[in-house]
Amino acid sequence: MKIELVVGDILRHKADMIVVNLFEGVKTPGGATGAVDASIGGAISAAIRDGDFQGKWGETLLLRPEKGIASRRVLVLGLGKKEKFTPDLVRQSALPVVRLAKKLKLSAVASVLHGAGAGGLDPETAARFASLGVALSGYEYDRYKSEKGSRLERFQWIERRQAPAVPIRKGIAYGAALGGAINWGRDLVASPPADMRPDGLARAAKALPAGLPPAAGRKIRVKVYGRKEIEGWKMGGILAVGRGSEIPPRLIVAEYRGGRTGDPWTVLIGKGVTFDTGGISLKKWEGMEKMKYDMAGGAGMLAAIRAAGALGIPKNLVAVVPAVENMPSGTAYRPGDVLRMMSGKTVEVLSTDAEGRLILADAIAFARKRYRPAAMVDAATLTGACVVALGSVTMGVMGNDAELVSRMKDASSASGEKAWELPLHEEYSEQIKSEVADLKNVGGPEAGAITAGYFLKEFAGATPWVHLDIAGVAWMEKDKAGYAPGPTGVPVRLIVQFLSQAGRR
Ligand code: BES
Ligand code: MN
Ligand code: ZN
Repeated sequence: MKIELVVGDILRHKADMIVVNLFEGVKTPGGATGAVDASIGGAISAAIRDGDFQGKWGETLLLRPEKGIASRRVLVLGLGKKEKFTPDLVRQSALPVVRLAKKLKLSAVASVLHGAGAGGLDPETAARFASLGVALSGYEYDRYKSEKGSRLERFQWIERRQAPAVPIRKGIAYGAALGGAINWGRDLVASPPADMRPDGLARAAKALPAGLPPAAGRKIRVKVYGRKEIEGWKMGGILAVGRGSEIPPRLIVAEYRGGRTGDPWTVLIGKGVTFDTGGISLKKWEGMEKMKYDMAGGAGMLAAIRAAGALGIPKNLVAVVPAVENMPSGTAYRPGDVLRMMSGKTVEVLSTDAEGRLILADAIAFARKRYRPAAMVDAATLTGACVVALGSVTMGVMGNDAELVSRMKDASSASGEKAWELPLHEEYSEQIKSEVADLKNVGGPEAGAITAGYFLKEFAGATPWVHLDIAGVAWMEKDKAGYAPGPTGVPVRLIVQFLSQAGRR
């Protein structure tokens, strides 16, 4: 889909549908909405007066004016209460519009830029979030649908004045590039697990640079390591979890050199369990199909590298994604096994379903040894306990460095991807002490998200590190927060915002 700016008069511009907006409680529409209303004979104000339309968040009113405007359809979009309006709501407002356009099989939609007028946002920010929303809302995984969804070809932001054209165009380019990277990652997550095993994820990662303009692609180098190297590095966690599958594990390493030579590395580690059956500690069948999204952290970190390339983020970054398939078989690892991890620490396996922390622990050890990073961030669909604690609204944040955690929280508010800190108090370490090894991989029924985080902390050592538990937010069951059902692309917006903030690391 092409997203572009049109400088001109909304009344004369011809599209399949034009979109204007209204904040809740406004009785007499102003701005472009007012101009359209006046020109088409007051149909909008009449609908407000009669109570047909109130401007509530997400509410829509579709009109087919006979005259007064060049386009055939006018959609009025409710933006909700003005004092509750945020940049992320600008992003979310795209979903009902793009949805309707697809349903009506339209090919070109033109809209006022939400948030820039009465919403009080600067034009570039409004254009960023609005265009990102359009790019994300157009996404659909229809690979296996015989009847493909209709494609919206063109989305235009109409602005009457020439003055804000430059910042708006910048915002559009940013939102479209970020959205493209996120949708690339969503496709990986949505793919059926047989199409996306460790080798498949590695292949997708390898193809990442070629999908970018050459100047950006050249800054990215993707390496994939196989069983030999993983054995050589004594990554006991990755080897154990991958042992039950016919497809051996991979370690995907994607470097992006956007900074200067000698600038420190920021490492982005992502859980890449391409399918999590639970292994010998087999999960129950209901919902197991969803465990194809257990690589959402890995896909997200690769997508973040793609976004960094597309946006030219001036930092040296590396994504490290351990990719495994957690299967039960005659060769699988077992509860009771003791693993020797890359770091040298030993781990007693209580459940083969607590596999994420095992592969991440080795990825963390690898990242520290090879890159001596200034900061590490990991993202993982790590625990059901985090879903219990925070639901599908908010991801869990944990870390060993207050400043880094606080920067992540700032990035969360700015990006709109909600995150909440859970404490890694030392007392929790008791829960993962083992009788036979240094650690055990399950900390019991209490504080499951925290004990999983604490387990990782044991491997992060003195390197500043933040952990994001995205189990509840990487996939939506139904329409929510501006996402269609399916993969959300979380935490890419958060990571990109985090990387774009000032700061040495
Ligand atoms: N991938 C799951 C966590 C998960 C649960 C992600 C629900 C998305 C939705 C993880 O590997 C897992 O199985 N965790 C176990 C840990 C337990 C055995 C300590 C869990 O949360 O039940
Ligand atoms: Mn599991
Ligand atoms: Zn898992």
